Amino acid sequence: MGKFTDKLINAPIALTFGDVVLLPSRSDVEPREVDLTTNITVNIKANIPIVSSPMDTVTEAEMAIALARLGGLGVIHRNCSREEQVELVKQVKKAPVLPVKYIYIKASSTVEEAHKMLLKLNIEALPVVDSNGLFLGYFKHNSAIRADDKDLVARYAVKGEVIKREELLKVSKTNPKDSLAIIDNDGKYWGIIDNGSCNNYSPLIDDKGRLRVGAAISPYDLNRAKMLEKWVDVLVVDVAHFHNLNCIKAAKKLLREISVDIVVGNIGTYEACEDILTMLENVAGLRVGIASGSICSTGIVTGVAAPTLFAVANVRDALEDYGALHIPIIADGGIKSPGDAAKALAAGASAIMLGRALAGTDEASSPLIPIGSRLYKLYRGMGSKSALAKRYSADRYSPPSKKIAEGVEGLVPYRGPVANVIEEFRAGLQAALGYVGARNIRELWVKAKFARLTSIGLKEVHPHDLLMSL
Ligand code: XMP
Repeated sequence: MGKFTDKLINAPIALTFGDVVLLPSRSDVEPREVDLTTNITVNIKANIPIVSSPMDTVTEAEMAIALARLGGLGVIHRNCSREEQVELVKQVKKAPVLPVKYIYIKASSTVEEAHKMLLKLNIEALPVVDSNGLFLGYFKHNSAIRADDKDLVARYAVKGEVIKREELLKVSKTNPKDSLAIIDNDGKYWGIIDNGSCNNYSPLIDDKGRLRVGAAISPYDLNRAKMLEKWVDVLVVDVAHFHNLNCIKAAKKLLREISVDIVVGNIGTYEACEDILTMLENVAGLRVGIASGSICSTGIVTGVAAPTLFAVANVRDALEDYGALHIPIIADGGIKSPGDAAKALAAGASAIMLGRALAGTDEASSPLIPIGSRLYKLYRGMGSKSALAKRYSADRYSPPSKKIAEGVEGLVPYRGPVANVIEEFRAGLQAALGYVGARNIRELWVKAKFARLTSIGLKEVHPHDLLMSL
């Protein structure tokens, strides 16, 4: 047998999510006891191992705010000008750490209008706000018993308990009344706590009490990185093939000049990780997986791929061999379900990056598209023709050397609030770790065992032999 034949016949098997299952083990762990906290970067510990893809149909401020409130991290895409991206990041930093309802009545409204509003909203007290946005007090049904309907509410605004923005988290744990006004240090009104949803939140916050956020950058755009540095918690290098010596050289400069955590990627092999570890210093994380994404056409267009599960295991081996286990892996691409997420973590990742799974949610930065009686959202690869036409992310696929799209676009079903999807992943991951008998992700790395499936097995471990029309 010649060496070419040998190369073919002895090629490694690039196992991917559908090829394997996690085996159940003896367990004394109940899913609700499972702790999903994890390092997303060397210096950022998140409450859930979930990061959103920096794609222009997934992550702008709304997604990053929602995700950070739920304990994960949003990475703002870079398919926009530097100024626009900085603005999106600032919006996250300025957002309240928990959802607030912006309910108030203008000081110039009438008592009659205020009574109607109280009844309609079914709350105890209505914050009264002047034309400068300052909080004046609360209007309550019983605070204006003798008032004339046409009187101005400002006259009947009574002082009461308020909370400062920074205290929002502390107060939310004690289940406050629904009409506790939040104000900033200048007395400006911010809203009232959205009581209904507080219990699910465990926000990811920085040391100034603001939501954490990441932003994607090109390794060649030091200016953008410098503009973002003041605001972001982490920069995520966003190229399809980081294991390229020009990229590595450019990243070296970034890592030297930028002080926030920098995650590099994407990579897909042991050797790529080995080169990063030997050629770069201060890398804060690795984005791992090439061509597995739901909108990727790299595998078809170029024949090149490092499927996410295989890539994660390879990179993890390199980290172990080089004693660099403090550097977290973010598994990126092709993660469709909590089960895939569990496999990615079990293969050595610390966190997962989601594109398609989040693209159908309210918070994803793409339009809602009704077709017949159903709702969809647009989702496109950053290497798709239409995304490349916007120019800013074009160097992800390094033109001018490449002149071909490596991504596609399409519609995904509308899925409602992102909190629902995150809850599904959280609950699924907790259940998975319960089956494996792992109390946390570190234990999962040690205890997880994989088994390979046949094509018949793959069919059997999915719902089958039902009419799925319900
Ligand atoms: P999922 O499967 O979650 O994958 O939708 C999202 C990841 O796919 C990558 N990505 C691309 N890969 N061509 C590619 O080959 C593209 O146009 C493209 N756009 C995004 C990216 O890593 C993302 O996080």
